[in-house]
Amino acid sequence: MENPANLVLVIFGASGDLTSRKLIPALFSLKVQKLLPEKFAILGVGRTSFTDNEFRRKMRESIISFSEEKKPELNQIDQFAECLNYVAMDNAIPADFQKLRGILLATGKNYDMAPNYIFYMATPPSLYAVISENLAKAGLADQSDGFRRFIIEKPFGYDLESGRELNKKLHSLISETQIYRIDHYLGKETVQNVLVTRFANGIFEPLWNRNYIHRVEITSAENIGVEGRGGYYDSSGALRDMVQNHLLQMVGLTAMEPPSSLEPDAIRNEILKVFQSLQPVREADVPKQVLRGQYTGSTIRGECVPGYRYEKGVSKDSRTETFVAVKFFINNWRWGGVPFYIRTGKRLPTRVTEIVIHFKMTPHHLFQREIGAVSSNQLIIRIQPDEGILLKFDMKDPGSGFNVKNVNMDFHYRDLADMRVPAAYERLLYDVMIGDSTLFSRDDEVETAWKFIEPVQKAWANNPAIKIYGYPAGTWGPSVSNDLIEGCGLTWRYPCKNLSDDGLYCEL
Ligand code: BG6
Repeated sequence: MENPANLVLVIFGASGDLTSRKLIPALFSLKVQKLLPEKFAILGVGRTSFTDNEFRRKMRESIISFSEEKKPELNQIDQFAECLNYVAMDNAIPADFQKLRGILLATGKNYDMAPNYIFYMATPPSLYAVISENLAKAGLADQSDGFRRFIIEKPFGYDLESGRELNKKLHSLISETQIYRIDHYLGKETVQNVLVTRFANGIFEPLWNRNYIHRVEITSAENIGVEGRGGYYDSSGALRDMVQNHLLQMVGLTAMEPPSSLEPDAIRNEILKVFQSLQPVREADVPKQVLRGQYTGSTIRGECVPGYRYEKGVSKDSRTETFVAVKFFINNWRWGGVPFYIRTGKRLPTRVTEIVIHFKMTPHHLFQREIGAVSSNQLIIRIQPDEGILLKFDMKDPGSGFNVKNVNMDFHYRDLADMRVPAAYERLLYDVMIGDSTLFSRDDEVETAWKFIEPVQKAWANNPAIKIYGYPAGTWGPSVSNDLIEGCGLTWRYPCKNLSDDGLYCEL
């Protein structure tokens, strides 16, 4: 693995949750793996005032609580903490950015390194443009003496128009090659494995199309609720929060054509082509193709769970969806006529993300089948938890006659005992440091994804009569979501049927 050039990483929003739960533990893991630059400093920026030592203490605690390293050693944490510094400033005040510039120059001198800077926007989205503008005004976007990379967290805009606006604003300050739009699902090892499964194994390629695939299903279920993010979530909802980005990126990787190389644009061009081929859901068809739900209060394993409308920061008459399921088609040669079903929701029975490829049935049913009219062949790519891959197929049940039994052929990442699956942010932060933008969304991808979502947003905004179904917390969302699935007796795959099956953890 290549060692990144020396640099300073500036994190705006350094006193926030993302920094302490994800970014700092991921950077610490990179340090343990010796993947940080030889000379490296982190400058936390926030409104809360901390001294460097207070900030270091806080980040040490975060590493202890959230690091995915099996046993983070205290001396390693202390060593890592030495590269942490903090500055309190107001992102809206241009003069503060001159101060920042001075600090960065001094840091460069202290650490004896070239002025390579990465700016991470771990702030509320409304600040992305302001911070970028103030950085540019302070001369901190100019790359004449070193690189300047801007990491933008999601959500990238609120709808097509605001997404375009933000792109326009950023492009007036910096070039597209300086922008790294994070979709942390792309940093997940198992999401990247979709590419390897498809394009390193010749056996799948002939089958991966409309001739052999009946339908594709992608589920991203969470058992948690809004976890103190009610304010943000209520103005977002599952469609913006998960579908526009994470789920569509998974669709992109599942449906794309083989890229000509592993160059960032070769891969992103193919994902873009999938997005461009998504058959638009007409506003009038939204009630037939898109189903939304909101969790209601319930008791989960003896514990009372409030309904969404009773979560902190959520309006008492909120019509924000905490569950969404969409049926759509991809209008191209490979996928014409194959329905894609995607769903996501909060307060479902378990946490599971998986891509399920349902293959077509055999043309003639010779044997008595255990599972009736449903095809026995499914390829399940489990993104999380119990990361792995599973192929379901029929075999003869030993004994007289020709009874058929459906069995699994499976691989679990956990069986690779000597390997730890790295956290998404480790991979993404490392990639920004080496300047590899493959796993980041490009401007046109983001806009095309918004374009697909737009009619749904409009239909829901313009037509309050479109139902939002309640579902008790801890269930698989509104049961009518099964009506979306075309075909007699077909339903979503339920990795665990209900809470009593296995609760939080579900095996592949
Ligand atoms: C984030 C969403 O992007 O992804 C959250 O804003 C969601 O609402 C999270 O909980 C899910 O990520 P993961 O990695 O836990 O599946």
